[in-house]
Amino acid sequence: MTKKIAILNGDGIGPEVTAQSVKVLSAIGEQFNHQFIFTEALIGAVAIDKTGNPLPQETINICLDSDAILFGAIGHPKYDNDPTAKVRPEQGLLALRQALQLFANIRPVVAYKSLHTLSPLKTTIIDGVDFVIYRELTGGIYFGKKETNAEGTQASDQCLYTKAEIERIAHLAFKAAQQRRKKLTLVDKANVLETSRLWRKVVQEIATAYSGVAVDFLFVDNAAMQIILNPKQFDVILTENMFGDIISDEASVINGSLGMLPSSSIGTKTALFEPIHGSYPQAAGKDIANPVGSVLSAAMLLDYFGMTEEAALVRTAVAWTLDNKIVTKDIEPIDFYFTSTVGGFIVDYINKNIDDGMNGENISLRKSTII
Ligand code: IPM
Ligand code: MN
Repeated sequence: MTKKIAILNGDGIGPEVTAQSVKVLSAIGEQFNHQFIFTEALIGAVAIDKTGNPLPQETINICLDSDAILFGAIGHPKYDNDPTAKVRPEQGLLALRQALQLFANIRPVVAYKSLHTLSPLKTTIIDGVDFVIYRELTGGIYFGKKETNAEGTQASDQCLYTKAEIERIAHLAFKAAQQRRKKLTLVDKANVLETSRLWRKVVQEIATAYSGVAVDFLFVDNAAMQIILNPKQFDVILTENMFGDIISDEASVINGSLGMLPSSSIGTKTALFEPIHGSYPQAAGKDIANPVGSVLSAAMLLDYFGMTEEAALVRTAVAWTLDNKIVTKDIEPIDFYFTSTVGGFIVDYINKNIDDGMNGENISLRKSTII
């Protein structure tokens, strides 16, 4: 198969983690006889520096002309503490989500056995956790009308949802639940918000078409507590844009590091795949960031292409590195491996350059620190 993949490295650690995924995809391409054609395009703070625009038209064109997009990270500290900045890197990602109508952001949360000890949560709570968050991505408060009065003393962000916007993601979430453990939880704030009441109404209507799926409803404040208290209860979580943003960062605590979680964003045009972490500027260029979120996003991309065997191999390779404690600093602060070394091991596993008998001593020869 020949597939065109747009590479949007973005800011901070984006380039270095995405480079590992490109290595991994290239190895998969060679082994399974696929031709992946990678085209890089600018987005975020780097795009502002070079063109004045966080999402140049050329980037949109390259994305529209691709079969999938692999995205790194976005954001730069020089904008974070400057609320008056006229252009912001994040606008690039938001505009891209809108341009491609990427309305469904899918964020799987799985607790890896080998990382149980790293989670601040007890093993009994996280053992066996396996759920997926369906976050609406192109509506709600993120994209509503934004206003500040002339004196700069009052500001508002409108939260607006249409029935059609809720329906299209709800159907995807229900279909996913049918393929999984057949449970869907809508997270909202229907005791306060009108938009949340619309979400409940629409989801209740749609539920009748998916009789095999058990539906329950949780207020977002309670959901935030339940994700920590009893995350095993969840199968598919469906929620609006901002609640999804918040609870998915919270959910990353379950497997020990924000650097581990992948996501896919599906819309009406080209689909996009990205780790859920941010640009982590403190680590940029140091080769210490966790590439697993990006590599698992690449696995989701392969699934999207229908390359299930290929995707499974990438996931097995990642699990092998975790089992052998070939992990970055966020997971193992002292005895860690560099970003590129972890990527290299994943590639070696895919290329079958690692025999079953490879012992711990050989593996540790490639360790990044001398201790
Ligand atoms: C995410 C990020 C983005 C969001 C930011 C960078 C705009 O936090 O993808 O979760 O809030 O959606
Ligand atoms: Mn976020």
